[in-house]
Amino acid sequence: MAVHVIDHPLIQHKLSIIRDVNTGAKEFRELLEEVSMLMAYEFTRNFPLEEVEVETPVATANCKVVSGKKVAIIPILRAGLGMVGGILKLIPTAKVGHIGVYRDPETLQPIEYYCKLPPDLSERELILLDPMLATGGSAVAGIQFLKQRGATQIRMVNLIAAPEGIENVQAKHPDVDIYVAAVDDRLNSHGYIIPGLGDAGDRLFGTK
Ligand code: URA
Repeated sequence: MAVHVIDHPLIQHKLSIIRDVNTGAKEFRELLEEVSMLMAYEFTRNFPLEEVEVETPVATANCKVVSGKKVAIIPILRAGLGMVGGILKLIPTAKVGHIGVYRDPETLQPIEYYCKLPPDLSERELILLDPMLATGGSAVAGIQFLKQRGATQIRMVNLIAAPEGIENVQAKHPDVDIYVAAVDDRLNSHGYIIPGLGDAGDRLFGTK
């Protein structure tokens, strides 16, 4: 299992604008979609290919197409929704599942409150999405829920991760590769990533 930091210049540039407190919801949404699309370009880099013959108008060409497992992308509600459109632009045939998780205030255990997934999970490469990997609680629970339903191949894609979240996911799910645009310094006492970008869901949907 590995952590892949996707630090392409365009991603770093757009991420700087996303982080800015003065960036409004419209621009935040557009940039998160663009960065997600650029990240998809990178996290699909090792997808297997197979050879095909294509008839061009003048000859037969030996070409390649993506083979291997079909893809499903699974945003963790609600901020993960902001990454779906960009990834679908590059992988338009992917199915989209949704997982909602909250933390029980008494037991502090993650509780699944919504789950709608494609039926053939074990036959798919699953891409779990959440812009912020903070404590890793939702990610660890989300991965667990997917595995309980038969998933065998999962990648996790985050915009910004805290070292604590990466450590947590790596400890509980060492088979899951993490793709992230930036690894920040730490979490604060409220569980926010520092410096981070604030609450990704609120900034995405303008709810603050
Ligand atoms: N979730 C967010 O939206 N932001 C953080 O900094 C941490 C978790």
